[in-house]
Amino acid sequence: MLFNPKPKTRREDLYNREEELSEIERSIKKGVPLVILLGIRRLGKSSLLNVALNEIPIKSVKIDARKIYSQFGSVPHTALAEIILKEYTKTTPRERIKDVLKGIRGVSIGGVNLELRTNKSVSLSEVLERINSLGERFVIAIDEAQYLRFSNAKYPDLISWAIDDLGNISFILTGSEVGLLEDFLRIHDPESPLFGRAHVEIRLNRFNRYQSLDFLRKGFEEVGIKVEEEELEEVVDELDGIVGWLTLYGYNRYLGLSHRKALKKLKEDAKRLILNEFSKLKELSPRYELAMKAVASGKHRWKEIKEAVELLEGKRIDDKNFSNVLNNLVRYDYLEKTTKGYFIPDPLVELAFR
Ligand SMILES: Nc1ncnc2c1ncn2[C@@H]1O[C@H](COP(=O)(O)OP(=O)(O)OP(=O)(O)O)[C@@H](O)[C@H]1O
Ligand SMILES: [Mg+2]
Repeated sequence: MLFNPKPKTRREDLYNREEELSEIERSIKKGVPLVILLGIRRLGKSSLLNVALNEIPIKSVKIDARKIYSQFGSVPHTALAEIILKEYTKTTPRERIKDVLKGIRGVSIGGVNLELRTNKSVSLSEVLERINSLGERFVIAIDEAQYLRFSNAKYPDLISWAIDDLGNISFILTGSEVGLLEDFLRIHDPESPLFGRAHVEIRLNRFNRYQSLDFLRKGFEEVGIKVEEEELEEVVDELDGIVGWLTLYGYNRYLGLSHRKALKKLKEDAKRLILNEFSKLKELSPRYELAMKAVASGKHRWKEIKEAVELLEGKRIDDKNFSNVLNNLVRYDYLEKTTKGYFIPDPLVELAFR
């Protein structure tokens, strides 16, 4: 169902990402070692990744770096090694499992179900080397890869080593906080270990007006609900082409809410969600929220945003310090920098700060 609010996993439920899907498929089939999938929140990166992994006839594992971070407070390479091995051996015939794992440090198997256990001495690079040596292609997909920066492991070094030496392994990295992921990988920075490595970069864009309306129409047709064309126009006016919001609106109506109530509930839920996601930045400094409020109230130029924040704080702010605040908001995708100044790329984020 198009309006299912969970990340999609089946091609039939994925609207209009054919081009991106075939670009990922093509790249991986050709053996491109690194695919980077970028896009602001709720544009469907995880959905596209799920469907791509299901469609590509190559063994793969999907790792959610944010989930590991929330579990451990960092992203230890031992955790990645364990997830990768467990997924890899899931489809390995029982009689071969012992051979596959033989001699890898820190790995043991036990019990009737040949349960795989790892201890602290397991090494991610050794695991990757073993998988590579088995001669089959393997894809390691890491969602919310910007969280890899919370680790002692130097992941960009590890990935560039794998790209150079392990021809059977490809990586797909995705992340919402686009600036953070870019800063972390520094793929265009000559000083970075990943510089010059072959890769494909795919940027997800929001749907255009035509696609947004068509998505809604198809979604309603699928669940057999008749809706007015003006209602759909209003939805796209308010939510823009951000598929995550369009999906939630459709889902609310599927649950039986009227147009008005569905839109109202979506905005309330979205506000809670957005402010909750923002709270980690706000903890770093309350100035981030004030800057967002200034932009949401219609200030877009650097100088006018700064003046508005100074007024709210009741004191003067150092220029460099203030530039850091705006740059960080851009890195985290809360603001977009254009030639006309700073803008909030998502209308519901703008609403949440107004
Ligand atoms: N192409 C699509 N067709 C139909 N529904 C979609 C599509 N892309 C995303 N969705 C829906 O939009 C919502 C957000 O999708 P998803 O979680 O994949 O996005 P995301 O970019 O990974 O978001 P986040 O940045 O929050 O991780 C989900 O409800 C999902 O089902
Ligand atoms: Mg996601």
